Amino acid sequence: MEVIQGEVVSIKKYGDRLYRIEIFSPYICKNAIPAQFVNIKCSDSLNTDPLLRRPFSIYETDKNFNVFSVLFAVKGKGTLFLCNRKKGDIIDFTGPLGNGFIPEKSKNNFLLVGGGIGVAPLYMIARNLIDKEKSVLFMAGFKDGTFYYWQRDIEKILRGSLLFTEDGSFGQRGTPAEHIRKNTGILKGRQVIVCGPVQMLIEFQNIFKNKNTDAYALLEEKMACGIGACFGCAVKVRSKNGSYQYMKVCSDGPVFRLGEVSFE
Ligand SMILES: Cc1cc2nc3c(=O)[nH]c(=O)nc-3n(C[C@H](O)[C@H](O)[C@H](O)COP(=O)(O)OP(=O)(O)OC[C@H]3O[C@@H](n4cnc5c(N)ncnc54)[C@H](O)[C@@H]3O)c2cc1C
Ligand code: FES
Repeated sequence: MEVIQGEVVSIKKYGDRLYRIEIFSPYICKNAIPAQFVNIKCSDSLNTDPLLRRPFSIYETDKNFNVFSVLFAVKGKGTLFLCNRKKGDIIDFTGPLGNGFIPEKSKNNFLLVGGGIGVAPLYMIARNLIDKEKSVLFMAGFKDGTFYYWQRDIEKILRGSLLFTEDGSFGQRGTPAEHIRKNTGILKGRQVIVCGPVQMLIEFQNIFKNKNTDAYALLEEKMACGIGACFGCAVKVRSKNGSYQYMKVCSDGPVFRLGEVSFE
C-alpha cells in the first residue's frame, strides 16, 4: 500500500449521480487484484473537510495505459467533490487495500450478483475470471434506470448477463434474488460472489441457508484508517469453532464467506 498522487485522465457521467473516473497510476495497475479498493482524499490538498478518505473499489485496470477506474455513486460531500474533478486534476489516494479475490484453480463456474453500486468490484472480478477462461454468469439488480448506460460496460466483456430493475425501466422487472429463488438450479456447481446493500446480503444468506452454497460477500462499512489500525470497520464473523469474532472489512476483507457474517 502506498500514498499516491494520480492525474485524472477522464471523468464520465454514466447516469443520475453515477460517474466513472479514470486515474493514472502505474502502481495500482501493476499491483491491484480484483475486489481491492483505494482510499481517496476527497478534498483539495489544503482542505481537510471531509477529514476521512473515502473507500472505492477498483473497477478496472488498463495496464496498457497505466490507468485504473472507479465507478461511483454520489452520496455526500466526498463523492460530490469527486464528481466535480476535471481531466488533469490530481487525486491523492492510498492503495491497493483489502484482501481481494483470487479464484481457486479448481473452481470453474461462477455466479456474480450485484445490487446497485455493488456491481463496481464485481466488474473487475468478472474480467479477471473471463481472462482465466472461467465460466461467469453475471446478474445485477437496480432500483431504476440509473445504471442504464452502465450496461454497455458489462456487454463489452460478457454476453448474456441477467439484469433486473425494480421499476422495469430496463432488463427484467424484479430482483436477482426473486429470480434465483424461482430458479435454484442456477446455483448448482457455481461459486457465488455477492455485493450490494446489507438487505440484499441478508436475503441471499437466507436463500443459501441449508443449500451448502459456496458463497462469498463483499462487504461495505464506513471506514476511517482503511489499513486495519482503528477497528472503525469491524464486523462480526463466525470462526471455525463456531464462536464469533470481530474482523476488519478494510484489512481482513472486504471479501468474506457470506454464511459466516453476522448482520445483527
Ligand atoms: C470497501 C468499500 C468499497 C466501496 N466501493 C465503492 C465503489 O466502488 N463505488 C461507490 O460509489 N461507493 C463505494 N463504496 C462506498 C463509498 O465509500 C461511500 O459511498 C462514500 O464513502 C460516501 O462518501 P460521501 O462523503 O460522499 O458520503 P457521506 O457524507 O460520508 O455519506 C452519505 C451517505 O452515505 C452513507 N455511507 C457512507 N459511506 C458508506 C459505506 N461505506 N457504506 C454504506 N453507507 C455509507 C452514509 O451513512 C450517508 O447516509 C465503498 C465502500 C467500501 C467500504
Ligand atoms: S477502517 Fe480502520 S480498521 Fe478498518
